[in-house]
Amino acid sequence: MKSPETVARVCRAMIDAVEGKTRITVKCRIGIDDVESFEFVSRFVEIIAANAGVDHFIIHARRAWLKGLSPRRNLTVPPLNYPIVYRLAEAYPDLKFVINGGIADIPSVVEHLGRVDGVMLGRKVRDDAWFLADMDQHIYGVPQSAIPSLDSVLASYLAWADETQIKLGTRETILARPLNSLFRGSQGRVFRRHIGSLLTKATSSREESKAGHPRVMFSEITNEALVGAQSECSAKLLSHAKDASSLEPEMTVHPVEAAEA
Ligand SMILES: Cc1cc2nc3c(=O)[nH]c(=O)nc-3n(C[C@H](O)[C@H](O)[C@H](O)COP(=O)(O)O)c2cc1C
Repeated sequence: MKSPETVARVCRAMIDAVEGKTRITVKCRIGIDDVESFEFVSRFVEIIAANAGVDHFIIHARRAWLKGLSPRRNLTVPPLNYPIVYRLAEAYPDLKFVINGGIADIPSVVEHLGRVDGVMLGRKVRDDAWFLADMDQHIYGVPQSAIPSLDSVLASYLAWADETQIKLGTRETILARPLNSLFRGSQGRVFRRHIGSLLTKATSSREESKAGHPRVMFSEITNEALVGAQSECSAKLLSHAKDASSLEPEMTVHPVEAAEA
């Protein structure tokens, strides 16, 4: 953001290179270190729009503290300033503005959508994947009956993980993260424990084996964890059968065929 002319040149080169096949957008913050103002961010937007032709901006409504604040703390410490983003949307009606930063519930999404063109969600979706189903229902009007089941979400995810990510070399621990928020309650905790120990085993056996050793499909590891978690939970339910009033599982999980997706 310190050099909008450079950003514009980079964007122009990208736009020329993709020949219209991909939309080039810019994501930025509202300031840097001790500079945060409408004038600063609007100058940045104007130069990029005028010199590169970018018309779609995603604005994280915080400044970036480049001196002495870690990337992680930069997600929480600099205060949010949504009105600056609203002002940009009002000042440049021909450009598209998507707001980002700290948005984590449906009423806030609705409120922002009344002021800007879109909302980008980061950590909320990372930590609670089912929030996307809430969004489908409340923002896009998708009926409850059309919301995908846990089994179908899992089947699609595992197919994607096996078919694309394993070949790219993405680590299983990274692939397992989104699953953590799919399974809730006590069954979820048991599942996380099972998959955690299977992942540790898979990683150490890969490290011991020679390079080029084929990797186990991520779906196999997940299914083994699901079977283990399911049988542990069923055993618990049986052992507490006499006092079953509060022991309904929060979510039933079934091992799935990734190929079904
Ligand atoms: C684990 C993680 C990785 C991120 N990686 C990127 C990235 O590569 N590029 C980027 O522009 N923002 C990245 N961000 C920032 C998010 O896109 C987003 O701006 C930020 O999390 C604030 O939105 P939120 O409050 O909805 O999470 C990342 C955030 C997290 C938590």
